[in-house]
Amino acid sequence: MTHPAICRLAATLLVLLAPALGAQATDLQAEYRQRRATFAAGVGDGVVLVLGAREPEKDYLSFFQSPSFHYLTGFREPNSALVMVSRGGTVEATMFVPPRSPANEVWTGARAGVDEVARRTGMAARSNVALIPTLDTLLRAMPRLLLVTDPSESPRPTWFRTVEQLFVDTLRARVPGVTVTDLTQRLQRQRGTKSATELAYLRQAILITGRAHEEMMRALEPGMNEFELQALIEYTFRRNGADREGFASIVGSGPNATTLHYNANDRFIQDGETVVTDIGASYRGYSADITRTLPANGRFSPDQRAIYTIVRDAQAAAERQLKVGARAADMVDSSNAVIAAGLARLGLTEGPDATYECGQGQRCAQYRLFYMHGLSHGIGLEVHDPEAYYFSGVITANTAFTIEPGIYVRANLLDDVIPNTPANAAYRAKLASLLPRYRNIGVRIEDDYFITERGVEWVSRVPREIDEIERIMRAPYNGPARRDPALVDAYRRDVP
Ligand code: GLY
Ligand code: MN
Ligand code: MN
Repeated sequence: MTHPAICRLAATLLVLLAPALGAQATDLQAEYRQRRATFAAGVGDGVVLVLGAREPEKDYLSFFQSPSFHYLTGFREPNSALVMVSRGGTVEATMFVPPRSPANEVWTGARAGVDEVARRTGMAARSNVALIPTLDTLLRAMPRLLLVTDPSESPRPTWFRTVEQLFVDTLRARVPGVTVTDLTQRLQRQRGTKSATELAYLRQAILITGRAHEEMMRALEPGMNEFELQALIEYTFRRNGADREGFASIVGSGPNATTLHYNANDRFIQDGETVVTDIGASYRGYSADITRTLPANGRFSPDQRAIYTIVRDAQAAAERQLKVGARAADMVDSSNAVIAAGLARLGLTEGPDATYECGQGQRCAQYRLFYMHGLSHGIGLEVHDPEAYYFSGVITANTAFTIEPGIYVRANLLDDVIPNTPANAAYRAKLASLLPRYRNIGVRIEDDYFITERGVEWVSRVPREIDEIERIMRAPYNGPARRDPALVDAYRRDVP
């Protein structure tokens, strides 16, 4: 507790120093300024609008900043907007933020307010009350709105209007003749390549997530509930300095191991099952994404081992393709080939290239009945972050992404998935004899990689070979590891 008189002196000094501090850009200010300049270069004359996320409607729910707004500003408080006026090759950026409100701060805690945002970001800042009138004026003079939003991964109902769409409707009504150009993809493309700061944040998120996996490997035993593992994981995240989970933790045992984004996490884990744990700590907004598959009782059965080995080999095949300049499709094709061949060897398909009748006269690959998702995605401010290869098809430097093959033997393949048609009869009969043996085995192995000028780096170095996992699981467990200063404190000093 500091003495009040010293506080007053410090406050006076701060006021005196504020202009000097404000004028002196920090490294991070420079980084965000550079991101905005890169984005705006070449967009032509217009008014760029990026809305931050709104305050949650219930004031006790946690807030999550819009990734696009976060990327361009670094500001993580609600109800704000970034406006950039691009004219004749110059760009002027202004933040619109909630004015300070001591009455609201009783509930929310201190908020930055206009002056502090200007000081912290190095941008002009105004009250968000001025946003609509300011846009009115700007757009009347230059009726070209350049909008940046965050794409949705889930289909939206046709009648659904996002906040941005409603906002644009309002502006169109107020400024007739305004044109709207969506520049979301342009920012996505930019976000696909990561700065050194972004990679440093991601590295820390990945290290923390690895600790949680190792903790779980030591703790798991039959009879635990999935929620106990989830609690241990998220305790390890926060305890080591993570902001939160980057996505809902997936702890799926038995049949739940075959549901890709299962997150109810409320089933008791039985002896002899596999447990798929797909988790990611978020550090300064950047999310890791690592999956390990464990035998509940510490030893993989021969059938689990067979499937695990195929998945691990598929991952290794993809890893061998990794280098700057390689085609991302080669990474995918090489791991698909391993999975297709492995499933054929087990008899779960009729051959690596075999197909079945999947409806409406179409034929689909049989191996896709067991491997229904993509191999890789970018990681960053979102767990499914844009990646440079999405746009170019080629692996490039300063990128961060996952490699995550899987095999999932869902119990309802014959009941709900493979149509009962004459063309499928032979394959259905073959599967009927094998399904009792393999059903409910789910295996995913997911790791995180950086590609930089220095080469390829496997960053999520959590044990993943069968003998390593079984060895760790055999060791006695005496409760959660303490917070690791080497992991947390040293890092906080080194990273801006
Ligand atoms: N955790 C979601 C994914 O692996 O893509
Ligand atoms: Mn993933
Ligand atoms: Mn994942």
